[in-house]
Formats: sequence, structure tokens, C-alpha cells
Amino acid sequence: MIIAAIVAGGSGMRMGGELPKQFLELCGKPVIIRTVESFLKHPLVDAVVIGIHPDYYDYTLGLIEQYLPGSPVYLVNGGSSRNETIENIINYSLSEPGCTDSDIVLSHDAVRPFVSDRLISDSIAAMEKYAICTAAIPEVDTVAVSADGLTADSFPDRSTLFRIQTPQTFRVGSFSQVYSSLSPEEKQQATDVCSLYRLRGYKTALVRGDDTNIKLTYPYDMTAAKAIIDSV
Ligand code: CTP
Repeated sequence: MIIAAIVAGGSGMRMGGELPKQFLELCGKPVIIRTVESFLKHPLVDAVVIGIHPDYYDYTLGLIEQYLPGSPVYLVNGGSSRNETIENIINYSLSEPGCTDSDIVLSHDAVRPFVSDRLISDSIAAMEKYAICTAAIPEVDTVAVSADGLTADSFPDRSTLFRIQTPQTFRVGSFSQVYSSLSPEEKQQATDVCSLYRLRGYKTALVRGDDTNIKLTYPYDMTAAKAIIDSV
């Protein structure tokens, strides 16, 4: 089985506004619905499990009934961190939709609605050779390292730098093994699944991401997202 684990447990503080950004209307449809649809339409994806902020559980259930009736979409409460939300999704997935250790999970930000079929396919294909992979694109700007935020200490070689996107893809069994072996401090220190796996010595494979696979973070990103929709 192949499932999409959609992390939607955040509050979107940087975007601001009343409603968390995953629920904002984007050209007539909530962002989270667009994201879930991107996975449902992929022929290899069997089900979508969303980890939602507990305050918005019923609200999201309503959206699923309205936009995606009868689809294989499941809902579980998210956690206090992104990785905790993924842990909740994995634990839930063992009972619904009934995942086993060898099943593949594409973990993906609810606020990246433009994930492409090609990227989903490449992420799944990488599981033949790797335990963990992530979407990534080459860095285009020069990057500075600065300890004090006032002066630059160094400028790393740009050709070795990549920006990490999602999906981040792995199998249920390896995630459970890695996650249960980590201390609470290690779990807190790792901001994404690849960092969790790195703590246990796994190398993360890089799958080519897309420039359009943007994460909606600040209000300007909504303008960029509308432009992406208008351009296709
Ligand atoms: N996320 C989650 N559970 C959390 C925190 C974040 O599932 N406890 C999800 C968000 O809903 C989002 C994704 O992780 O889809 C990427 O996180 P980010 O862009 O940082 O979202 P927020 O935490 O909502 O935003 P902000 O940091 O601006 O508050």
C-alpha cells in the first residue's frame, strides 16, 4: 500500500489571519483540498491520511465531506511538532487504512498544493534503493552563514546546497524503528523526517523537486500560488 501523510497540524503564524493557511481559499478551493487531490489523482496512491490541528478536526471533516465524498481520506489529530504529527499519522495508519511495515508513506506539507505527478512517482521509485528520500531543488541564491546575524562568517559553495521540499518518503517499518529509538531531545532537535533518519545513520536520497512546489508561508506566497494556477 502507498499512502500520503499530509501534515496539517500547524497554526500558520507567519501567514497571519484568523484561519490557518491550510484552509485559505485558493482560486475557489481550500489549499488543503488541492493538496489532498494532488495525491488522490495519482494512480499509485491508495489513501490519504491527514494529521490535523485538533481545533480544526470537525471543520476538516466537513471539507472532506463537501469536496471529496467517498474518497479514501482519513483524519487524525496532529501533534505539537511536525514530526509528532507524522508519528500520529503512522500510528493511526496501522489500523486505518491498515498499513504494514513494508508500506510506503509520502509525508507532505498540507501547504504545498502543487506537488506534481512526476515528483510523486520519482519519490515512490526511490524506495527501491533507499530507506528515505526527499524532494530538493538546487539553491539559486548565494547563502551566507552568520552567527550574529550582522556579519557573514562564511559563504558555502552554492553548488553543494539544496533547498529541501516535501514529499519526504519512507516505509512504515523503518519510521517506527527510527522514531522509537530516539530520545525526546533527539526528536525535538530534528525538524523533519530526514533529520530523524540521519540521527540513526541513514543517508537521505535527493529527488528532484519542482520550482512550483512552493510552501505557502507568508501572505505573498498566496499571490505566487494564484499566479501558478493562472499559468497552467
Ligand atoms: N505542521 C504540523 N504539525 C505541527 C506543526 C506544523 O502538521 N505541530 C505542518 C503545518 O500544518 C504545515 C507543515 O507542517 O503543513 C509545514 O510547517 P509550517 O509551514 O512551519 O507551518 P505552520 O507551523 O503552520 O506555520 P508557522 O510556522 O508560520 O506557524
